[in-house]
Amino acid sequence: MYAEAPPADNRDEIPEAAYADGASWRLRGMATSDAARGTGLGRTVLEECFAVVRENGGRYLWCNARLVAVPFYERLGLEAVGPEFDIPGIGPHYVMWRAV
Ligand SMILES: CC(C)(COP(=O)(O)OP(=O)(O)OC[C@H]1O[C@@H](n2cnc3c(N)ncnc32)[C@H](O)[C@@H]1OP(=O)(O)O)[C@@H](O)C(=O)NCCC(=O)NCCS
Repeated sequence: MYAEAPPADNRDEIPEAAYADGASWRLRGMATSDAARGTGLGRTVLEECFAVVRENGGRYLWCNARLVAVPFYERLGLEAVGPEFDIPGIGPHYVMWRAV
């Protein structure tokens, strides 16, 4: 996770304040192990990420979410913004974001 503005293509759907320097942090490589999945670990990790963003002066978190992970992120309060796009070799994704 590191400070990075959301994609410019989503500027119509994400608050303008999220594009200010240092306002947004990008989450990458989110995963829990097969054995731990479904036990609340993903929620714990993501809630800690929200706290880290806040502690560093950020106000928004965003990510490129795999289509299969969209319901997980929605449960954690992120919103999908369009359009769906493909990352070759990985599959369909949406940009997702939330204020933290
Ligand atoms: C997505 C992933 C990180 C979720 O982690 P997890 O440890 O299983 O998530 P949790 O058990 O903490 O679930 C958190 C909440 O999301 C919900 N949730 C998780 N997966 C869900 C799904 N597919 N559909 C609907 N709700 C889901 C849980 O019910 C839970 O809700 P609650 O806290 O209100 O009870 C995990 O499934 C994973 O690593 N998947 C493979 C890698 C991947 O796709 N990563 C995302 C890349 S963008």
